[in-house]
Amino acid sequence: MSILVTGGAGYIGSHTVIELLNANEEVIIVDNFSNSKPQSLEAIKTITGKDFKFYEIDYLDRIALEKVFEENPSIDSVLNFAGFKAVGESVKKPLEYYTNNISGALVLLETMRKYNVKKFVFSSSATVYGEPEKIPLTEDCKIGGTTNPYGTTKLYIEQILKDLYQSDPTWDIAILRYFNPVGAHESGLIGEEPQGIPNNLMPYIVRVAAGILPELSVFGNDYPTPDGTGVRDYIHVVDLAKGHLKALEKLNKEKQGLFIYNLGTGTGYSVLDMVKAFEKATGKKVAYKIAPRREGDIATCYSNPEKAEKELGWKAEKTLEDMCKDSWNFIKNNN
Ligand code: UFG
Repeated sequence: MSILVTGGAGYIGSHTVIELLNANEEVIIVDNFSNSKPQSLEAIKTITGKDFKFYEIDYLDRIALEKVFEENPSIDSVLNFAGFKAVGESVKKPLEYYTNNISGALVLLETMRKYNVKKFVFSSSATVYGEPEKIPLTEDCKIGGTTNPYGTTKLYIEQILKDLYQSDPTWDIAILRYFNPVGAHESGLIGEEPQGIPNNLMPYIVRVAAGILPELSVFGNDYPTPDGTGVRDYIHVVDLAKGHLKALEKLNKEKQGLFIYNLGTGTGYSVLDMVKAFEKATGKKVAYKIAPRREGDIATCYSNPEKAEKELGWKAEKTLEDMCKDSWNFIKNNN
């Protein structure tokens, strides 16, 4: 049996492929390098000493995707990491986001159905909770009220999956709501490489520490949080990757169901906590200034990850120090 990974050359996809290969799974990657590089595939091979099949195709290309299923009857489950994920960009390019994320998911699901492959793990996001109903967030909290097209694609795809499961309960679906993925593989060979000036906190911090950007703007220090800056649930990408293996295990064991899990640590850190933790872990100074709030940001967002621990036997293990060190190690190696 093999696992099809769309977007397997990207940030979270590549880390997940490593964990799958380390667990002796057979992996087939589909990627069009729209937001990743071929070198990450080489890095996966170097890190794991293992090989995999690769197709350079757009997952929206139905004919090419059908060929992948045609040529690989061993595919029995699919992990979808092929979504676009930049919040700011999604506001400027809504049609591109809706097309890539939603039409892509639809083409993928229809192709899966055609080849009778019905195990699907979907990368969702804590962004579906909108303004949190309560903190920490549990999976049964209300969803909706997303503030950008990226978040709305995640919300809509969740609904599509629920409707699909309702219509045909022979599907096995896991919806994983990621909190704030950071860090990189400890080898320093793969990590997050946002194009242009990063929007997210950790990629920005490492670039300031490396002298690539002059200073961090802390977006608001008047939130109702302990130090006034925004609080988030940062999770190491390797922990996140491992969560996907546990979700697949659950689907293989359970036979039929739609399951939703938060993947977070359950601990919230502020922007200034992150700056201090980074400086402590790396010995590097991070210059910052307080700037106005960023539109669409919420004060506090962190998970209650107990459901995943109870039902999947999964728990984030890496520390904030690991997240900072590994993020720094990757940028040092790649600049
Ligand atoms: N922040 C700054 N300065 C920066 C960047 C970020 O102060 O230059 C602050 C933000 O205001 C926020 C925190 O750092 O308080 C984290 O911001 P990120 O942009 O790193 O992450 P977000 O929580 O805004 O968004 C992330 C992902 C989304 C996902 C969301 C889920 O980027 O894809 O988590 O809640 F939808």
